[in-house]
Amino acid sequence: MASSSHPNNVGILAIDIYFPPTCVQQGALEEHDGVSKGKYTIGLGQDCMAFCTDVEDVISMSLTVVTSLLEKYNVDSKQIGRLEVGSETVIDKSKSIKTFLMQVFEESGNADIEGVDSTNACYGGTAALFNCVNWVESSSWDGRYGLVVCTDSAVYAEGPARPTGGAAAIAMLIGPDAPIVFESKLRGSHMSHVYDFYKPNLASEYPVVDGMLSQTCYLMALDSCYRLLCEKFEKLEGRPFSISDSDYFVFHSPYNKLVQKSFGRLYFNDFQRNPSFVDEVSRNALAPFASLSGDESYRSRDLEKANQQAAKHVYDAKVQPGTLIPKQVGNMYTASLYSAFASLLHNKHDSLVGKRVVMFSYGSGLTATMFSFRLQEGQQPFNLSNIVKLMNVSDKLKQRIEVTPEKFVETLKIMEQRYGAKDFVTSMDCSYLHPGTFYLTKVDSMYRRFYSKKDTMSR
Ligand code: ACO
Repeated sequence: MASSSHPNNVGILAIDIYFPPTCVQQGALEEHDGVSKGKYTIGLGQDCMAFCTDVEDVISMSLTVVTSLLEKYNVDSKQIGRLEVGSETVIDKSKSIKTFLMQVFEESGNADIEGVDSTNACYGGTAALFNCVNWVESSSWDGRYGLVVCTDSAVYAEGPARPTGGAAAIAMLIGPDAPIVFESKLRGSHMSHVYDFYKPNLASEYPVVDGMLSQTCYLMALDSCYRLLCEKFEKLEGRPFSISDSDYFVFHSPYNKLVQKSFGRLYFNDFQRNPSFVDEVSRNALAPFASLSGDESYRSRDLEKANQQAAKHVYDAKVQPGTLIPKQVGNMYTASLYSAFASLLHNKHDSLVGKRVVMFSYGSGLTATMFSFRLQEGQQPFNLSNIVKLMNVSDKLKQRIEVTPEKFVETLKIMEQRYGAKDFVTSMDCSYLHPGTFYLTKVDSMYRRFYSKKDTMSR
């Protein structure tokens, strides 16, 4: 248990991830949707997409991941003093997801847990994480752990945005002496009022989305956050920051192509700030674009291609290791950035000690922050190798069940009818679910939701 003396190296002690085992291959979806071959797999850069069937939702996924993390790390539920949830999947306009999770803690007699839900598109998880870290670093901290949960089911109406869905929940334990430490002074935010992606129709789970605008907003916010982070670094260190000062870059990942474009954009930023930050071949390739105005640069498809090509060798080393889960599971909204970070841990855990990781969080509407972690080995059981072992990403990905696009579409139709409905019993078909997974059994005439846990003895 954490001590109550002044905390040092506050950050993430442990991470666990849950995504539904049911998934659809993007190649099969291309064929089903009648789009040209390669549009989703190469054009968007996505391999596969997870989705909830009628027995899973953001509450069941978070119950599953919270229970799993506490069990794996042998953390007594009385040791949690703050629980923050980030989500944009609205099930109830008043009752928070956090209150559903209290079932896990009340069993042990712990009702003394601060925190509620944070909502702003895909950014809510970052807000929840900052709240928890701030609490541990504050004078109100009582020596217990914080717990952050990011949980979302990303579903879109039929059309070009549908292949950019996904679903997952991530839990992160927060405390001092962590292996994943915040470099608190290294942070830049950009917040603004735009209608790029929003959910004004409270009768539907689907967002209203201006896809092209959302891409441009994402890239503009990225530029702005990066400029601020560079300025802060220079003030602190007395020398300029460039991509070479961070070992890895991890992005909120609605689809992989946007991550490729984003890193290309950072590379272009470095080139504009000081051409010597990039190699000679890249300098020559980017020179024709040097005098473009900000607006022109967002519109130029030639620049976008040139950036991606110039940055490719650095992307492969510093970004690609953090793309596995988002490419396999899809956009997980609030959980997307942290699943990308989990992918980096999974791929590089034996060589991460001492490394810096720059993270970019984006939520439409819009809110964005770039921030930084420093990684250290940590102390058992909260060390990097143990986190990777217990997350067990490879098995979770391998043990999934591919379903046909027809079944996926049929499931979404059922969910459309169920959204906001009352007085129904689910199929209770948990044959796809692994033992220990929570699932929705019914919603009664008072809209109250009931969950069960799949028996750990059953298969
Ligand atoms: N083979 C290879 N590539 C192809 C093919 C093909 N057969 N067909 C199309 N493509 C490429 C296109 O060239 C394009 O790539 P480019 O941008 O590098 O040029 C890409 O596939 C996408 O195709 P488009 O026709 O440009 O776009 P589409 O109409 O399919 O919409 C979009 C894509 C806008 C991303 C849509 O899926 C969407 O709205 N998604 C939700 C919004 C979103 O995720 N925004 C991101 C930030 S906000 C958030 O996180 C929710």
